Amino acid sequence: MVKVVAEQIPASTKRTPLLVLGVFEDEVEGIRNQLDGINSMTVELVDRVIKEKEHTGSFGSICIVHCFTGPIQRIMLLGLGQRASLDNEKVRVLAGKASAKAMEINVTEYSIKPFTQLTKVLTEAICEGTCLSLYKFDQYQSQKNGESSYSSSLLTISLLVDGNREEWQSVLDTTRIIVDAVNFGRDLANLPPNECSPEYLARVALDLSSKHQRISTRIIERYEMESLGLNGIVAVGMGSNKPPKLVIIEYKGNENSSIAGPYLFVGKAVTFDTGGISIKPSDRMDEMKFDKSGGCDVIAIMSGLANLEVKANVIGIVPCVENMPSSSSYRPGDIVRMYNGKTVEVINTDAEGRLILADSIAYGIEKYNPNSIIDLATLTGACIVALGSNIAGALSNSPELFNKLRLISEKTNEKFWQLPLYTEFNEQIRSKFADIKNIGGRAGGSITAAIFLSNFVNETPWIHLDIAGTAWTQEGTWDKSYNPKGATGFGIRSLIRLVIAESGSR
Ligand code: BES
Ligand code: MN
Ligand code: ZN
Repeated sequence: MVKVVAEQIPASTKRTPLLVLGVFEDEVEGIRNQLDGINSMTVELVDRVIKEKEHTGSFGSICIVHCFTGPIQRIMLLGLGQRASLDNEKVRVLAGKASAKAMEINVTEYSIKPFTQLTKVLTEAICEGTCLSLYKFDQYQSQKNGESSYSSSLLTISLLVDGNREEWQSVLDTTRIIVDAVNFGRDLANLPPNECSPEYLARVALDLSSKHQRISTRIIERYEMESLGLNGIVAVGMGSNKPPKLVIIEYKGNENSSIAGPYLFVGKAVTFDTGGISIKPSDRMDEMKFDKSGGCDVIAIMSGLANLEVKANVIGIVPCVENMPSSSSYRPGDIVRMYNGKTVEVINTDAEGRLILADSIAYGIEKYNPNSIIDLATLTGACIVALGSNIAGALSNSPELFNKLRLISEKTNEKFWQLPLYTEFNEQIRSKFADIKNIGGRAGGSITAAIFLSNFVNETPWIHLDIAGTAWTQEGTWDKSYNPKGATGFGIRSLIRLVIAESGSR
């Protein structure tokens, strides 16, 4: 396991196989100030590399200089680009490049000097970039590099700080737990669909409750869903011989308030989405194993909150189904009576996510009366068309809640963009034979999907996050050191930090 520790020690006296130093492109000479106290031979070598423009400080470039003597074996010059354009996202990316390079050259530990005046957000970014980029999903590869989701070769990373060591260490510790939650979510979402069934996810959620006193997990089985009237989930699950599971995870971190407050998180977990009878084209259908990403995110968030011992009460609901074509599948033309009593005409069985989310949201509201609801779902291909593969769609009935999340996402850099929820869009999902239908035509596909969901939300403040483009690396994904191939765990960092901010703990 990787450890990130804050150390209050001058860089020149730290005994380390590798010292990482940032170099600004517009201040390359500034590297001199960072070499204070380091032996003259090493300084001379770094000087040469700079003078001969072997290293220019251009963003993300790396040059490794070996030192003949002294406690430092090597120096990594890491290009930071222009000083004025360095922000916390760039720091996150740079920290990720440094750790990936360190792993590549087989050092087991290294030290890193903060690139600029250290702040809380910057410390978080360094820790996130470092640990998120070391993630690798290689458990199915015979010749793997790591023993778990992390490389086993890198052990300790020291952040060389001035001032209060404990203060920075506690920021690092909190961030480490959040990063572990992200990598846990990635591990789940990356699982192949033959391994990861609805039952598998239910087992994972149950394991959380055995591990954590403050978590209790409940699984609603298909027969129970039938008698409760959770027919949207039942309908989507009918085509598969793997029965659907409704996973409910309660985290009680605050004894003094009702279990409901403050948040209800709902995550779509379609363990594989073939489209059902309205079957998808086979091209890249393998990627539909990632259709469980929203649900995996929610499971990981609950685990992270428990590990952090956040003083808040949060409910996670994860409807788990496999969407398959078979003689027992639901069909286009079916009319389903949903949990809240509304009837839905199924026009396309590939618009399954909204059916399972709608029931989950309606059930969550009735059962828990939450203060706020946020759902995460790989809901529409239209969202990728509208916003690309790096920005999630966000639709909300509450400017206040939306703004809270927006402020958090400016720090985490999990980007989303608002799409409108005008009630006029309801006309597009009006059905001839039922109350509403499950698709609204080509125009505004992500909006009509969210409008569908809005029919199952009451006045409770709610945000729907469409993570179809951002849940895994795909065509158009920006190359980032800290998002290795596969599931990204998009949303986990922001939602955990939102609960932390709201609860005032940590
Ligand atoms: N899981 C898909 C959405 C999706 C597609 C996410 C591609 C990421 C990449 C969802 O269940 C779906 O199939 N949506 C349909 C809706 C349509 C039938 C109205 C879509 O987007 O095509
Ligand atoms: Mn679908
Ligand atoms: Zn789907």
